[in-house]
Amino acid sequence: MTKLRVMTVIGTRPEAIKMAPVVQELYRHTDIESIVVATAQHREMLDQVLALFHIQPARDLNLMRADQSLAELTAAIFTNLDPLLTEYRPDWLLAQGDTTTVMAAAVCAYYRQVKFGHVEAGLRTGDKRQPFPEEVNRRMAGVIADLHFAPTDWARDNLLHEGIAPSLIKVTGNTIIDALNQIKSMPMPAEIETLLKEKRILNGERDLVLVTAHRRESFGQPIREICAALKELAEKYANQVEFIYPVHLNPNIQAPVQEILGDVANISLLAPLEYLPLVHLEMHAKLILTDSGGIQEEATGLGKPCLVLRERTERPEGVQAGVLKLVGTSREMIVSSASNLLDDPAEYARMAHAANPYGDGTAAQKIVSEILAAR
Ligand code: UD1
Ligand code: UDP
Repeated sequence: MTKLRVMTVIGTRPEAIKMAPVVQELYRHTDIESIVVATAQHREMLDQVLALFHIQPARDLNLMRADQSLAELTAAIFTNLDPLLTEYRPDWLLAQGDTTTVMAAAVCAYYRQVKFGHVEAGLRTGDKRQPFPEEVNRRMAGVIADLHFAPTDWARDNLLHEGIAPSLIKVTGNTIIDALNQIKSMPMPAEIETLLKEKRILNGERDLVLVTAHRRESFGQPIREICAALKELAEKYANQVEFIYPVHLNPNIQAPVQEILGDVANISLLAPLEYLPLVHLEMHAKLILTDSGGIQEEATGLGKPCLVLRERTERPEGVQAGVLKLVGTSREMIVSSASNLLDDPAEYARMAHAANPYGDGTAAQKIVSEILAAR
């Protein structure tokens, strides 16, 4: 029997983390020929993850340009990915999530009549501007997908409401749990141990609050409000808390964060961290403040109280589980919500419990079996 040819397209850091378990599973099947294509919508942040999971793309389109527009990136993906579909003639094209890479790859697959499998399908806020442009990217991928790998029942229900046939939706869990399980058991990297010692976190003298923020709908005033809240919190808890913030490389984030937080004593602004050190910081954090999608899921799985710096989330499972709280981007709300958790042990204990709405870490196996079953 000829091998099933599966092309996986990866563009950004979170896609690489969430697709790594799928790529590893594809490699395990001798009846599958796996072709990984990196659009490299991200460069450094993608390479860190590919190296960690030992993934070597067959082709790397190297499309990142400093601060390029979404339309320029989309055009470049169309132009550069399409010839690979005629060259490799895959039976399936797989992509994960909601980025420009995913939306453009789905369209390319559709035009070449290659079956498209959407990993982490069915997440919705119902608001096309939040998250921007991810909500619309997801919906476009959903219109095209031949199989929808929904992480949870809630995501499946969203797809059913949009008229997707039940037989095309497979609830698999989220591959982030597969990735997290693999990484969290690895030893703490030496540089993180040194950092945590230096900041007096490892000996329990001070608490760690881990921060990330990068959303496009927060560019401008909202990210400045987030930074103002962090500064106020840092001053309020100067002797008690160290804030560690690995800053996304997007220039629209770098500029205000460095300007407002660059010289606050107990805020450490770091370059984007590799996934292993980041997971160790999550495990040692007392509290996480983030607008990241993946970190909301990791916080839920790890039982780390997490304040979500957004007005809407397409990940209500963690909020329902009580581990996440949606606080928006206003300075006052962020300061009061974080203070409640840092000051009130009972309030903190109510949020600090692990939940597993995202499955048992076998999502990748389920996804690959479904593709084989659909051949
Ligand atoms: C992208 C995704 C977003 C995802 C995020 C994960 C879109 C529209 N957005 O947002 O859904 O949550 O990635 O991190 O697909 N840059 C670098 N080096 C890197 C990465 C980025 O220098 O390794 C800089 C470049 O100037 C680049 C800019 O950041 O042009 C923006 O990157 P881009 O992928 O367009 O958008 P993100 O905001 O990172
Ligand atoms: N992450 C990382 N290093 C960092 C920040 C985040 O490895 O410095 C990981 C994080 O643990 C999660 C993923 O990157 O798995 C989330 O990526 P990001 O926040 O960029 O994107 P989103 O999930 O919002 O699309």
